[in-house]
Amino acid sequence: MAPLTSLLEPVTIAGLPLRGRFAMAPMTRYHSPGGVPTAEVAAYYRRRAEGGVGLIITEGILVDHPSAGHETDVPRLTRGPAEQGWRLVTSEVHAAGGRIAAQLWHQGSERGRDAWTPMSMKGKDFEILLNAYAGGARTAVRAGFDAIEIHAAHGYLLDEFLWPLSNRRTDRYGGTVRNRAAFPAEVIRAVRHEMPAGMPLVVRFSQFKERDFGARIADTPAELATVLDSFVTAGADVLHASQRRFWEPAFDGDRRNLAGWAKHLTGLPTITVGSVGLHHDPARLAELAARREDGEFDLVALGRILLGNPGWVRLAASGRFGEIRDYRKSDEETYF
Ligand SMILES: Cc1cc2nc3c(=O)[nH]c(=O)nc-3n(C[C@H](O)[C@H](O)[C@H](O)COP(=O)(O)O)c2cc1C
Repeated sequence: MAPLTSLLEPVTIAGLPLRGRFAMAPMTRYHSPGGVPTAEVAAYYRRRAEGGVGLIITEGILVDHPSAGHETDVPRLTRGPAEQGWRLVTSEVHAAGGRIAAQLWHQGSERGRDAWTPMSMKGKDFEILLNAYAGGARTAVRAGFDAIEIHAAHGYLLDEFLWPLSNRRTDRYGGTVRNRAAFPAEVIRAVRHEMPAGMPLVVRFSQFKERDFGARIADTPAELATVLDSFVTAGADVLHASQRRFWEPAFDGDRRNLAGWAKHLTGLPTITVGSVGLHHDPARLAELAARREDGEFDLVALGRILLGNPGWVRLAASGRFGEIRDYRKSDEETYF
């Protein structure tokens, strides 16, 4: 299909060569017993690489601190078996011609009982978590990942610092927009410090929270610029602007989406995401390609449509839409 052509050409993003502009969005799948990704997990990611995805972003991987999350089948990023499991994942993806980023995750108040939140953290807690993120980054580098993504979206810990409703601190981590971005920026700096020069660091952020779709970390482009400037100064190379529908404008009076604003305000490459390909809709795909050509974003992440259609990119590239199944909720229960 002609309109997709420009999304299918090889591209280099922040020094990382990719076979095309489609990425796989991070999706938690609960298939890593004891926090260890199995050979089945490696095969799951390999299948998406074989299906034509250029950059896979893993499901959220819990950083090594008990407060990060309690589910036992969500993967960890620790020395030993988890590191070995990820080594298999990265080598399988590479063998299929793909690239893969590890998403570092701390659930904040979403963890439930004994949660660490912007309002409960004090004293040495900040340093403890910076060390947990840094340790995760070191393990990711050893395990063969091509990039790291920091999850600062959707109402989890780092996003809770950014959001005024969950961060009412009055010290240097709260109050102004810049102060609210201070701890996320320290995390970015700590992770960047562990990464080789030339390895891209992606930061994922959003306005919405899973518990509040109308929430906002920035009411104006100027506030967004302040947040993103803190991320860039701390070492972010790529910004992944999460929204639920890619075609929705981020601010009134301008059609650009959140990734479009992020790219405009920082000059960094950006990733867009949100309901791409969920249902067969040639006009939406043409709009996606046109927005890319207008320079709104550099990569396009696919989430739910890849659950039931690991080969979506290859099929769409050759116009075989009849072989693509529309997304349905039950796809989230399958794992292959
Ligand atoms: C089952 C599922 C799990 C998800 N887990 C994560 C996650 O671990 N980290 C994250 O940043 N986003 C997560 N998301 C959000 C997706 O990355 C993506 O932004 C969202 O699904 C919208 O893209 P889509 O419309 O193409 O599915 C998850 C989404 C789904 C459906």
